[in-house]
Amino acid sequence: MTSSNSDIIRSNACAGQVVFVAGGSSGINLGIAQRYAELGASVGLVSRSQDRVDAAAATITEAGGKAIGVEADVRDFDAVQAAMRKVQAAYGDFDVVISGAAGNFLAPVIALSPNAFRTVIDIDLIGTFHVFKACYDFIRKPGASLIAITAGQAVRPTMFQAHACAAKAGVNLLTQTLAMEWGPAGIRVNGIAPGPIGDTEGMARLAPNAEVTARLKGRIPLRDYGTKSDVADLAVFLGSANAKYITGAILDCDGGSILGDASGDALTFSKRG
Ligand code: NAP
Ligand code: COA
Repeated sequence: MTSSNSDIIRSNACAGQVVFVAGGSSGINLGIAQRYAELGASVGLVSRSQDRVDAAAATITEAGGKAIGVEADVRDFDAVQAAMRKVQAAYGDFDVVISGAAGNFLAPVIALSPNAFRTVIDIDLIGTFHVFKACYDFIRKPGASLIAITAGQAVRPTMFQAHACAAKAGVNLLTQTLAMEWGPAGIRVNGIAPGPIGDTEGMARLAPNAEVTARLKGRIPLRDYGTKSDVADLAVFLGSANAKYITGAILDCDGGSILGDASGDALTFSKRG
């Protein structure tokens, strides 16, 4: 019998946990929130749009889970703090904080205005600083697990992605520095670097048609996009006691993408006679 990823995780494994998800109105981050809720956690979702976070929270509550949505732009520190206050008032101190709000688009530097570059730095990097700094007053100490959603662009220079590369590189080092500063308080801080994940806004922007999609898949060692569930399961692991000795790690969930272009056909390579 084939097991789905979720079969290996005990249901109700996250009962009693409180999870705060910045950038939780869609995509990978909403997938993480939905998985936590399926496992019994209470979830606070934050994005720039009250309508979008309400709709996202409804996907959880209509399935019998516990979720609320709060509008806040991660570029605004006071708004992030206010959102955390609301989620804490509803559910209590946070066990897990996901910082996943991001913006991205394809653009060469020549076509990137200073404001365009700054916008992505503001959302991804400054936003993660705001979320992690603000959450210190709202998390369970010891025991909380903070997770930045970063990307392979942090460590791999990628054309048309100077803004995302710079922002996510900063996110990685912020994550690791905080792991050192807050480890003594029993707070773990890690990152997840998803590779190409199907059915997401990110991949719709980076691989907008079938031809590019096929080309990209042909370079991935595991030859396919990942799923939101793949990332969600890793986030649940990082938030659990099973990961209690893991901090400062940036874990790739990318089918091997970060290793490089695997488009060769090594398995049918014949010996030279
Ligand atoms: P997505 O659905 O567009 O998710 C981005 C989220 O961030 C949305 O909920 C958006 O909500 C929110 N957001 C954007 N700007 C915000 C702001 N200023 N303040 C608060 N919230 C804001 O994209 P995704 O593709 O799933 O990406 C999710 C995360 O995974 C990102 O960190 C991305 O860098 C990372 N990632 C994705 C892939 C991929 O294959 N998709 C690969 C590597 C890394 P509103 O629009 O409602 O504000
Ligand atoms: N190419 C070049 N520049 C672009 C661009 C593109 N495709 N899209 C936006 N910009 C520029 C804008 O022109 C503007 O610069 P300017 O003032 O010099 O003209 C700057 O970026 C900010 O754009 P704006 O639309 O005002 O920003 P915003 O804060 O409303 O939105 C974005 C932020 C641009 C990141 C928007 O794409 C977004 O909201 N993204 C969230 C969803 C997402 O990206 N998901 C994938 C996550 S991996």
